[in-house]
Amino acid sequence: VIRVGLLGCGTVGSAVADTLVRRRAELGERAGVDIGLSRIAVRSLAKSRSVSIAAHKWTTDPWEVVQDPDTQVVVEVMGGLEPACDLIRAALRRGKHVVTANKELMADLGGELLAEADEAGTDLLFEASVAGGIPIIRPLKESLAGDRIFRVMGIVNGTTNFILTRMSEEGCSFAEALEEARRLGYSELDPSADVEGFDAAAKLAILSSIAFDARVVSGDITREGMGHITAEDIRSAHDLGYEIKLLAVAELEGEEIAARVSPAMRPQTHPLAAVRDVFNAVFVEGTGVGELMFLGRGAGGGPTGSAVVGDIVEIARNIASGSRSVGGGWYRRPASIKNPDDAVARYYVVLSVLDQPGVLAAIASVFAHHGVSIASVRQEGRREEATLVLITHAASEGAHVATFKDLVALDVVKSLRSKMRVVGTDEG
Ligand code: NAP
Ligand code: HSE
Repeated sequence: VIRVGLLGCGTVGSAVADTLVRRRAELGERAGVDIGLSRIAVRSLAKSRSVSIAAHKWTTDPWEVVQDPDTQVVVEVMGGLEPACDLIRAALRRGKHVVTANKELMADLGGELLAEADEAGTDLLFEASVAGGIPIIRPLKESLAGDRIFRVMGIVNGTTNFILTRMSEEGCSFAEALEEARRLGYSELDPSADVEGFDAAAKLAILSSIAFDARVVSGDITREGMGHITAEDIRSAHDLGYEIKLLAVAELEGEEIAARVSPAMRPQTHPLAAVRDVFNAVFVEGTGVGELMFLGRGAGGGPTGSAVVGDIVEIARNIASGSRSVGGGWYRRPASIKNPDDAVARYYVVLSVLDQPGVLAAIASVFAHHGVSIASVRQEGRREEATLVLITHAASEGAHVATFKDLVALDVVKSLRSKMRVVGTDEG
């Protein structure tokens, strides 16, 4: 019997425990060896649990799981950097295999932990850390190992996609939609990790590292959250033929990697615009394979638990056959990160302005001064309510930022109400 110890039994952990208990015979047959649960660590023994497991297996001390001599596979689904990192490190040093769903940890300390696993000759698998139930780590590591990937782009946060869908289709408020995502177990313990784009940035760092064979960490990703998006932005996007998504994009430009998470308007005709609700999608582009799209549920116990159990079965097979999973040496090579100001972008801009002669000319001259060309402009409202909605042609991020700074300094501009990237058009 291969014995599995769980660190955490919340949304993801309880789905994993339930599958291991209910489908033990089937998984054993598939793995070629019986897989059993050894210990489970949680914070509180008093909480009621959806899984029925013998009382003596539960503990509030996660070190008991890691130190248990009968446990060969440690599954970390508790979240956070510490004590998760110390526990995983200790498990690997004891020759145990590890499965984790922790993207925050893998994005920043994954390189160090993978080196520990290599040293110990054990497996450290993390399929569930990116895009919930979608198999994406393994295809990038294995199936696409022969290709040269130059772009990875997608919607990799279920909570924010769920919120945007509810706001867009049902007119829900941001707060109502977030509360529902939290109730369904999609959001992180601190939902600002989802809303402010930290979760998506961590996932993009993991994807970029594997896709481009270099060690990219969360701090390398230019990040902007979606908390400022209003119902008005969504309405305006629809009027212009766009859908707003929190988009994660990483590109290889020469030897440099440009990676960004930000809200963006996409044409409604683009396949990513149709990715609704808690679904995630990852577009991968390679020189040989062309375009690939991976689609599925990006959060929730069922999908994420499925990815975790898949890793457990892989490890059980490896133990049974005396082999190891494909690691990949990406974490040994430092990444060269492109200056974000040099990235090229188009923007949607909403300005509250005075409604009087010469205003448009003054605004246009600021754009012209920074070499940013205007693709379209539309005035909405009159007098005190006058608003200009502009879309720019492609220009550098730095030129756009300088333009925004000068625009808000103009007497005729009352406020910069909104600005957002426009992507997926003919101009990029
Ligand atoms: P969760 O529902 O909050 O569960 C966390 C579990 O860990 C709980 O059982 C908690 O115990 C236990 N725990 C936390 N700190 C502990 C400590 N110091 N000692 C012992 N036990 C401790 O979290 P989750 O949503 O399952 O997420 C777990 C991990 O999976 C995170 O890294 C998350 O980013 C990742 N993930 C989540 C999803 C998702 O859809 N939820 C998807 C992909 C990846 P109690 O039950 O007693 O509180
Ligand atoms: N909070 C994350 C999300 C969980 O909403 O995508 C999946 O990683």
